[in-house]
Amino acid sequence: MSVLVTGGTGYIGSHTCVELIKNGYDVIIADNLSNSKADVVDKIEKITGTRPAFYKVDILDKEGMERIFFAHKIDSVVHFAGKKAVGESVQEPLLYYHNNITGTIILLEAMLKYGCSRIVFSSSATVYGAPKTVPIKEDFPLSAASPYGATKLYIEGMLKDLYNANKELSVTLLRYFNPIGAHDSGLIGDNPNGIPNNLMPYITRVARGALPRLGVFGNDYPTPDGTGVRDYIHVIDLALGHIKALEHMDKPGVNAYNLGTGKGYSVLDIIKTFEKVNSIKIPYEITERRPGDIAECYSDPTKAKEELGWTAKYGLEEMCRSAWIFENKLSKPNS
Ligand code: WQD
Repeated sequence: MSVLVTGGTGYIGSHTCVELIKNGYDVIIADNLSNSKADVVDKIEKITGTRPAFYKVDILDKEGMERIFFAHKIDSVVHFAGKKAVGESVQEPLLYYHNNITGTIILLEAMLKYGCSRIVFSSSATVYGAPKTVPIKEDFPLSAASPYGATKLYIEGMLKDLYNANKELSVTLLRYFNPIGAHDSGLIGDNPNGIPNNLMPYITRVARGALPRLGVFGNDYPTPDGTGVRDYIHVIDLALGHIKALEHMDKPGVNAYNLGTGKGYSVLDIIKTFEKVNSIKIPYEITERRPGDIAECYSDPTKAKEELGWTAKYGLEEMCRSAWIFENKLSKPNS
């Protein structure tokens, strides 16, 4: 079975490519390297012993995308490629709508043209907006709290409409909660360009002294310790969720699944756990809330367990330990 992974050199994409190869899939990567590096392909090969085909291509490049489908018999697509910074999307909404939505349309047109009828879409818990209650189930109301979140929501809607027009399609929408951690080799992990928006890559850079301290965005939320609560999930558990999804796509239709642990941890929980497992002090200061943040967000992952036979296995300590091993290797590549 050959799988085209768009965004396959990215954080979640690269971990998913590793698990796909380990499960016997023939992996083809399409990535424009706008937020990742080409040497991730070498690292995937080093981890698995198999080098995936790699095309440096933008999903907006119609000819470039069609060339891949022409060259390979693609059975399924796992679609990660897209811009994903919430704050940037507020500043540059058209960039996000064009890149994420037009890019997905071009991908889907190529899939239809070459008879590829299965797609796993990298969606996000952000499609639930600010949920009234937690834990969150897949049938909760959907809304967009940012242009980034809107692109995820609109693409989910596009895929549902496309299925209604092409009943042979099999679509799986995977709604990620908060992926953190790294492959235990330390070779691949979360290494965003510039100053990290997300909590864990910010913490690991503070840990190695690349940033002076962590700003904790508010401690006056209605949560146990006042700081934001999220459902952190190990990126390998997330990657394995994609394998389970692909194994359950023989029947046409559209299915959405939460990929989370079902547990919520606060920012201070993350800091304390990271410090404990890595014996490192993380200096921090309480700052203002970040606009758009919500107090609590964590999943009810029952549907994925019942229908895909998937549950998250790794705990918070392993997430924090593996994140630090990766960051360390980044700063000491020959270690
Ligand atoms: C987690 C918690 C912050 C940074 C976003 C996207 C979501 C998905 C995951 C792409 C919050 C707090 C953070 C910092 C902090 N992205 N925080 N100081 O906002 O839950 O989700 O990333 O798919 O779609 O919305 O993740 O890691 O940014 O924040 O205090 O420097 O950490 O307030 O409570 P978030 P995050």
